[in-house]
Amino acid sequence: MTEELAGKTALVTGAARGIGAAVAKSLANAGGRLILCDQRHTTETLNSIKELGGDVRQQIADVSSEVSVASLFKSISETEGSLDFVINAAGILSESKITEIPTAEFDRVLSVNLRGSFLIARGAAQIMKPAKSGRIIFVSSELAYLGRANFSAYCASKAGVVGLTRALARELAPDITVNSVAPGPIDTPMLGLENMSQEWIDKEIDIPLERIGKPSEIAAIIRFLCGPDAGFFTGQTLSPNGGAVMI
Ligand SMILES: NC(=O)c1ccc[n+]([C@@H]2O[C@H](COP(=O)([O-])OP(=O)(O)OC[C@H]3O[C@@H](n4cnc5c(N)ncnc54)[C@H](O)[C@@H]3O)[C@@H](O)[C@H]2O)c1
Repeated sequence: MTEELAGKTALVTGAARGIGAAVAKSLANAGGRLILCDQRHTTETLNSIKELGGDVRQQIADVSSEVSVASLFKSISETEGSLDFVINAAGILSESKITEIPTAEFDRVLSVNLRGSFLIARGAAQIMKPAKSGRIIFVSSELAYLGRANFSAYCASKAGVVGLTRALARELAPDITVNSVAPGPIDTPMLGLENMSQEWIDKEIDIPLERIGKPSEIAAIIRFLCGPDAGFFTGQTLSPNGGAVMI
């Protein structure tokens, strides 16, 4: 463990697995105090941070629910009393043709990915604004830029996150910074690559660097955004994507 984020508190959503779990472990490794949030238990992440000797607790919450998110931030106000970083990695993927997608499915994706980002950012800002400090980091996707057939709800939700990043970066400046990361394909349970043939992966995923990314590579960018050298970044969307999208 290092001392880079010692004394700082971070809330990470989607912390049960995948990118959120990697981010939580990385921030804990940098000495941060972690609040793990997910709609499912975060036992594996929680235990591995405890094994490191990290300061960590979990709070089950659904980021798309106003009531659930309000209770999450109430508990943070009462327990930690302050919040330095919020990383909203909770998200869902959904594939459906535009001619077939039920309205309820479109709403479900927007509700977790975009409304969830809004609810988490609002709760965070209510704690960070009086403290005149804090960093909010969203997780978008390269598909916000690239688009993908049969993923209209997902692409729209992630493009919305880029807009939210820019608007809140202006609104919350100069005390609070707001950035996002827009990863390319990352090997997590969301992609389920273990069920795909190498042929499918090669055909579907066209990446100049010729590989899928690792959760640790996204965690490293987010750790940078939380660290002392990222103070001049706000309103930015950093896209570690192996060169699939060049912005
Ligand atoms: N894996 C990729 O290729 C990839 C690429 C670009 C962006 N992303 C984004 O990165 C983020 C993390 O994705 P991942 O690959 O780690 O996915 P994942 O499915 O492995 O993990 C997502 C986590 O979010 C949690 N979650 C889902 N809905 C929730 C809700 N309503 N409330 C609270 N928690 C909820 C899940 O329980 C899960 O633990 C997502 O926003 C995803 O869209 C992933």
